[in-house]
Amino acid sequence: MNDLEIYFNENNKRVIDKWSHYFEVYDRHFSKYRGKEIVLLEIGTFQGGSLQMWKKYFGDKAKIYGIDINPNCKQVEEENIKIMIGSQSDRDFLKKVIKEVPPFDILIDDGGHTMLQQIVSFEELFGHVKPDGVYLCEDLHTSYWKEYGGGYKRKGSFIEYSKNFIDQLNAYHSKEAALPVSSFTTSVSSLHYYDSILVIEKRPTPMPISSQTGTITIPDMPLANLHGFEKVKAKLKRKLIRRMNRLTSFFGLGWKNGDF
Ligand SMILES: C[S@@+](CC[C@H](N)C(=O)[O-])C[C@H]1O[C@@H](n2cnc3c(N)ncnc32)[C@H](O)[C@@H]1O
Repeated sequence: MNDLEIYFNENNKRVIDKWSHYFEVYDRHFSKYRGKEIVLLEIGTFQGGSLQMWKKYFGDKAKIYGIDINPNCKQVEEENIKIMIGSQSDRDFLKKVIKEVPPFDILIDDGGHTMLQQIVSFEELFGHVKPDGVYLCEDLHTSYWKEYGGGYKRKGSFIEYSKNFIDQLNAYHSKEAALPVSSFTTSVSSLHYYDSILVIEKRPTPMPISSQTGTITIPDMPLANLHGFEKVKAKLKRKLIRRMNRLTSFFGLGWKNGDF
């Protein structure tokens, strides 16, 4: 059991409402921020118990912010816990939030869980997550529930919307104009899907480089086994490699076969 799970099980402070398998996911993605001066925003304050849990888990240097549509949630404010009242699907409200709150290290969307709420919050707040921060959207099972605007493969569900993230993550390799490198491509290092949770980890991500190391021991495929365009390509490549080898050994540069 990790510290969050222990806290949850022993909790006799404000009520926390979480699915039990979430704690392992939280700890996996959040533990590196413990004890640091971080900013955490949780959409969906409810009774305020999860905010108290984050405060205990991350320590005294963490600034915890909560958003809720219920004005009574303001009552759960305490040292290092601040509540902002408004709707997560109100773009103007969210624009005000990012003016008031410093960039987030961690953002957790545990609000109303409708498709509109999750998508609008992502669109307005993801850019305010720090370059090495993490965005976690939970209760994604509502993407399969019609009453929340979801449904299996239903256009506009958060799950369907987020499937495009997979394409954007790989856009450096796209040869099609329809999939250009975006700010998502250059700022996101990984996507982690769990039951009902998507975690998006940010990290500046430049164009990836492919290279080889080691010594070649297996001869190339015999040209006789290749056909058509593959054969022409292989012939040209091998000719180029021979030339590069001759050239670099002449200049003593030690260029190795297959370095490109
Ligand atoms: C599942 S509860 C949050 C549970 C809490 N995070 C916890 O772990 O204990 C969902 C909360 O989202 C709030 N909520 C619902 N719709 C909202 C909206 N449009 N904007 C902001 N908060 C909303 C509700 O008032 C409720 O307090």
